[in-house]
Amino acid sequence: MLDGKKSIFSGMQATGTLHIGNYLGALKNWVELEDEYECFYCVVDMHSITVRQDPAELRKKARALLTLYIAAGLNPEKNCIYYQSHVSAHAELSWILSCYTYMGELNRMTQFKDKSAKHSENINAGLYTYPVLMAADILLFQSDVVPVGSDQKQHLEITRDIAERFNGIYGDVFTIPEPYIGKVGARIMSLQEPAKKMSKSDENVNGSIYLMDDPDTIIRKFKRAVTDSDNEIRYSEDKPGIKNLIDIYGAATGKSVNETEKEFAGLGYGDFKLAVGESVVSMLKPIQDRFAELSKDKEYIDSIIKNNAEKANYYANKTLRKVQKKVGFPERIR
Ligand code: TYM
Repeated sequence: MLDGKKSIFSGMQATGTLHIGNYLGALKNWVELEDEYECFYCVVDMHSITVRQDPAELRKKARALLTLYIAAGLNPEKNCIYYQSHVSAHAELSWILSCYTYMGELNRMTQFKDKSAKHSENINAGLYTYPVLMAADILLFQSDVVPVGSDQKQHLEITRDIAERFNGIYGDVFTIPEPYIGKVGARIMSLQEPAKKMSKSDENVNGSIYLMDDPDTIIRKFKRAVTDSDNEIRYSEDKPGIKNLIDIYGAATGKSVNETEKEFAGLGYGDFKLAVGESVVSMLKPIQDRFAELSKDKEYIDSIIKNNAEKANYYANKTLRKVQKKVGFPERIR
C-alpha cells in the first residue's frame, strides 16, 4: 500500500530476447491491472549480471525491454517504468534483507540450482542471493500484488517469509505481497520440448516465439511444433504439445479450452497449428509496430527514463529510510 493506494511491482530481466511466455505469463496481465493500482515495472538489469553479460549488449537490451513495456501497452503516465540500477535503494535494502535470510532458505531455490548447473563455471554469490534482491524490489514499493508467471512462485514465497520475519521483529514495516498468476498463459512450454518451459536462454530458437519474430518465422515455428502421433485436438496432460498449443491459442484469442476443442473438432494438427500461428501473429503485430515507432523517438523514451526514476527513487527511499531506522542505523543530519 502506497499513499492509501494498493501497489504492484514486477520486473523482467534484460537478458535474452523476450518470448510469448514472458508476454502471456506476465506483461499482458500488467497492462490489465494498471487502473486499479499504483504500478511499478522495472527492467531488472542488476539481476542480469548474475550471469556474464556483454556491457554494450546489456545496455541495448535494457533499453529495448523498457521500450517494449510501453509498446505492449503499459501507459508510462500511469505506470512507473524504470531501470533497477537507477534506484540505489534496491541494493541497499537487499543488503539489509540478506541479514534476515537464512542460507537454508536460499539453498532450496530451484532457480539457483538450475542456473548453477547451467553456469557451472560462474556460480557467483549474486546468483545465490538473487532472491533477496528480488525481495527488496518487491518490498521497497510496499507491493500488495506481484503479477508473474508460475516459475516465480517460489521467489514470491521467500519474499513473504523474509517480510513476515522482519515484521515479526520490528512491527508492520512491509506489506506482505500476494503473487498474481494468471489463469491462462502462466506457464508456456517450449514448442520443441513441451515438457520444458519456454525460456530466454534456450539454445534451440525453434522452441520459442520471440516477440519480435516476423510472421513467416512464427508460422514456421508453429508448423514445426512437436506434438504427438494421434491427430485429435484435445486438452490432456498426456498430450503436452497440444495442451501447450491450446493454452497459447486460448491466451492469444481469449477462447476457453472447450471452445477451442469444439472449433477444431474433426480437423487435424496442420489446421490447428496454422490457426495458433495466425492468432499469435495478430497478437504481436500491434506490439511490433508500436515498438518500431517508439524506438525512433529517443527524446520521449529518455524523458520516461528520467521522470520515472525520480518517482521510483522517491517511494523506494521512503521505505528504505523507515527500514534503516528500524534496524538502528544513525539518523541523517540535514
Ligand atoms: P524473467 O525475466 O525470467 O521473466 C519475466 C516474467 O515472465 C514470466 N515467464 C513466463 N511465464 C509463462 N511462461 C513461461 N515460459 C515464462 N517464462 C518466464 C516470469 O514468471 C516473469 O514473470 N526473477 C524475475 C525477474 C524479477 C522480478 C522481480 C519479478 C526480478 N525482481 C520482482 C517480479 C518481482 C525473472 O527472472 O523473470
